[in-house]
Amino acid sequence: MKAVIYTKYGPPGVLQLAEVEKPAPKNDEILLKVHAAEVTKADCEMRSFNFQVKWFWLPLRLALGLFKPKNKILGVYFAGEVDAVGKDVTRFEQGEQIFGASRLRLGAHGEYLCLPDSYTLAAKPANLSFAEAAAVPLGGLNALHFLRKANLQPGEKLLINGAGGSIGTFGVQIAKSMGAEVTAVDSHSKEELLRRLGVDHFIDYSKVDFTKTGQTYDVIFSMVAKAPYSKIIKVLNPKGRYLMANPRLSNMLRAPLTSLLTDKKAIFAFAGETQEELLALKEMIEEGKIKSLVDRIYSFEQAAEAHRRVETEQRSGAVVIAAQQNGIT
Ligand SMILES: NC(=O)c1ccc[n+]([C@@H]2O[C@H](COP(=O)([O-])OP(=O)(O)OC[C@H]3O[C@@H](n4cnc5c(N)ncnc54)[C@H](OP(=O)(O)O)[C@@H]3O)[C@@H](O)[C@H]2O)c1
Repeated sequence: MKAVIYTKYGPPGVLQLAEVEKPAPKNDEILLKVHAAEVTKADCEMRSFNFQVKWFWLPLRLALGLFKPKNKILGVYFAGEVDAVGKDVTRFEQGEQIFGASRLRLGAHGEYLCLPDSYTLAAKPANLSFAEAAAVPLGGLNALHFLRKANLQPGEKLLINGAGGSIGTFGVQIAKSMGAEVTAVDSHSKEELLRRLGVDHFIDYSKVDFTKTGQTYDVIFSMVAKAPYSKIIKVLNPKGRYLMANPRLSNMLRAPLTSLLTDKKAIFAFAGETQEELLALKEMIEEGKIKSLVDRIYSFEQAAEAHRRVETEQRSGAVVIAAQQNGIT
């Protein structure tokens, strides 16, 4: 089968299109033909081994490969079709169209992928193409997880810092469907998209520091590792919650003290990306409450370009990669 592989850490140019062995499903696994997969910030971080949050360098290096990557095929979030099933698989049948996440197995940037049927997998939303479905799990699962942790209530004021990215765009839509008043913070180029998604207020981070406008919020959800912790806690209302998707170690250490010593909460988490959350997203999509946003679809041959776009360019929605750019995606 064809796959986009990397055999050393480095810039997008280390990616190559290669012919690799097609995996065979074990008894409890499905063999999935991947029609589309998202290229994420995390894929770029793993490829370059350059993570925004530096404190887990060693454990990550041990997990991903000390001298070179252990798993040559990146990609976690996908949509595709069940090609074959192991004898103990009961949840899925050959030919079913599904979407989901391969967790630490990665491998979604190849034509085929084997996964246990207990993984976070669900029938593809009927109203989405494969590319649109592949663009859902990262942003959707993470946004839903954090907003549930905040116990966001109708009418509450929520600010999303980094609202125009994969997690933020789903965060905006889910929060609006929960009845919150949403302020989006991102670069000017994302304003039109974010207004279309229904944000009530927009702040361009290159011009305005949202911690200095005099406005206060019930919940602040930040994707930005360098967001200023103390200033953010100050602009939270009493009983306010600060959600950190990308916390620095120092902020993870301060969070329990904030929660213990003040009437505010600072929350960090690694989203579990559960089956229940994926099904909840599928329902919201099929009910028209949230949309999937695809920026561009790239072929396997264009993988390096796709990584460059995710890493350095302003995009509107998810960057998707597909083995073949044909009608199926
Ligand atoms: N905790 C978890 O379980 C978990 C799970 C998945 C991901 N994450 C982490 O969460 C982070 C966000 O993920 P994502 O996929 O949504 O990333 P993304 O798609 O790159 O989105 C980040 C957004 O933040 C904007 N931004 C950059 N600097 C900013 C600033 N100073 N102020 C406000 N906005 C700014 C970016 O805009 P520009 O175009 O200006 O750069 C972009 O629109 C990643 O670092 C990822 O590693 C955490």
